[in-house]
Amino acid sequence: MGSDPVATDYRQSHLHKGADYDRDLSRGDFNTYMTEREGEILERIAAKFFPGGIPRYLDFACGTGRITQRVSAHAAESYGVDVSANMVEQARLKCPRTTFIVRDLTRDSAGIAPVNLVTSFRFLGDAQDELRRGALKAIHDLLVPGGYFVFNNHLNPWSIHNTLLRMSGKGERVDLTWTKLRRLLREAGFKIVASYGIGFWLVRYKLDRPEVFRSPLVRVLEPVSKFPPLVPFCPDAVFVAQRV
Ligand SMILES: C[S@@+](CC[C@H](N)C(=O)[O-])C[C@H]1O[C@@H](n2cnc3c(N)ncnc32)[C@H](O)[C@@H]1O
Repeated sequence: MGSDPVATDYRQSHLHKGADYDRDLSRGDFNTYMTEREGEILERIAAKFFPGGIPRYLDFACGTGRITQRVSAHAAESYGVDVSANMVEQARLKCPRTTFIVRDLTRDSAGIAPVNLVTSFRFLGDAQDELRRGALKAIHDLLVPGGYFVFNNHLNPWSIHNTLLRMSGKGERVDLTWTKLRRLLREAGFKIVASYGIGFWLVRYKLDRPEVFRSPLVRVLEPVSKFPPLVPFCPDAVFVAQRV
């Protein structure tokens, strides 16, 4: 991705975004809609894969603690890791029981015992390949054998929305397709055991409006996204991968 390693290193993307990040995701647009659906899916995953609670949990690239806060409620012990002290400052306010570590685990060790669950949201889709591989290796090393890695890809190039944008010359620079994602996971020692699509029906930018997301029709259409053959074409999806 790109030729300038500094300009394209996702490690530097959120060093100063802590103050604005949560507000930017709560404007009532598709970002807010994804957050709400991801939250529901995470509750389902916790109930299905950890019915007795999560012994040890880590949120990788935790940012302001958006996901940490929700999942740590099910965990006996929880950790959040991010390279941005500025983002983590916000997370600490939300999750007083969680231990936060400001560190790049692709370069330094976390220095903690293995965990049963790692989450990572809004990270893999944006990161460059070198960082994706480094992060997946670090996450694999952090998990107990058979442990779970739950993450999302909200930048799917195969979504109908992104495909139409590309055809009209307005496409975003996104490259984490379903096949590429599966290959990266396989190479890192994971197998996908569950996937949950979000927002299959969002085929045009015109639909990205708060009143659309609140409409009864969307409530009827959303379950279609969970139909397994459609997941590779959803604009966002949550995956459960297991360390093999
Ligand atoms: C878009 S934010 C996502 C935050 C949070 N996971 C969420 O879903 O709201 C991406 C985060 O990845 C972090 N990040 C980038 N490279 C990282 C790395 N090597 N290790 C840990 N965090 C990293 C950034 O600092 C930023 O906080």
